[in-house]
Amino acid sequence: MRITNKIKNLGRAILIYRDSLRDAQEFAENYLISQEERGYFAYRIMLLVHSLEKGMCHKDKRPFGVNKALTLVNLLKKSTSEQTVSFEYKLACSVLMAWLLMWDNNGWNVSDIPSQVIEWIKTCKPSELCAGITEYSYIPNTEFADVVLSRHSAREFQNNQIRKKDLDFALSCFSVAPSACNRQMCKVYLVKDKNLRILLSKTILGLSGFDMETTTLFVVTYDNAALHYSGERNQGMLNAGLAAMNFVNGLHARGIGSCFMEWSNEAKEDAMIRKALKLKSSERIAVTIGAGYYVEKSIIPCSCRRPIDSVFHVL
Ligand SMILES: Cc1cc2nc3c(=O)[nH]c(=O)nc-3n(C[C@H](O)[C@H](O)[C@H](O)COP(=O)(O)O)c2cc1C
Repeated sequence: MRITNKIKNLGRAILIYRDSLRDAQEFAENYLISQEERGYFAYRIMLLVHSLEKGMCHKDKRPFGVNKALTLVNLLKKSTSEQTVSFEYKLACSVLMAWLLMWDNNGWNVSDIPSQVIEWIKTCKPSELCAGITEYSYIPNTEFADVVLSRHSAREFQNNQIRKKDLDFALSCFSVAPSACNRQMCKVYLVKDKNLRILLSKTILGLSGFDMETTTLFVVTYDNAALHYSGERNQGMLNAGLAAMNFVNGLHARGIGSCFMEWSNEAKEDAMIRKALKLKSSERIAVTIGAGYYVEKSIIPCSCRRPIDSVFHVL
């Protein structure tokens, strides 16, 4: 390689390090823990709400969630009057009421719950927001709007394999997803090998609520080799997200439920799994997906959405 090209490439590499360092700095300054240090708890509240909802879905019902409810109540108590009308606050009240009702309905010993939690929940006012659990039944549909609007994460599946024609349909949905400059840098792996399944089951975080015996496992990856310069360093995740979403909607249209399972493992574990899956060195894991045919009825978290006017803004 000519010396001028070598110098140019060195300059490009320096840019990648510089911008990645800036990413790291911005992330550290702004991620959830740093926000909490500044007194901003909205996303912590959302995490606690989701965690209580997931706990309420458990099949083997048992008293649970006391510490989470206590943490949530303590956070809500700190709210300013402005925050008491926020989406997060109202949703938290709603989930706490549903959670306490579950204790009552199951005859669990409420004296295990600190009295300040019970007293506080009793002061909560019902709102238009629904939190807790809901029953989900799959209704076959092919209309685009019906498919997209009826999908929910499923964590419970029938005990049978995904049929080839259904998988093929979802794979064509995966492959027609747009990709930057049509580079098609994403892949989806169906993990059938028993040892790899065991390894992934031990590694994937957020597997609670899944019956791994009946869960078909997919891994979605992107290839850093496709990315051209520093500004594209985060494009792989976006491209994988688009393809993965098309894929799960394709599965859903064929009666196959699914749930993304966050790939947020530490770098060392990530490297170990990439090696075990025999990915090439430039290939990164974006997300894992658990899937299978819907059971007739399942209990799922309500996962109430924010009002549209809080996510859409005209500038
Ligand atoms: C990137 C991503 C990662 C997720 N990771 C997990 C996970 O690890 N475990 C889990 O049970 N659900 C996971 N979910 C599912 C979310 O909890 C779910 O999408 C959310 O609560 C909204 O509910 P819905 O999909 O039923 O509408 C994940 C979803 C996304 C998009």
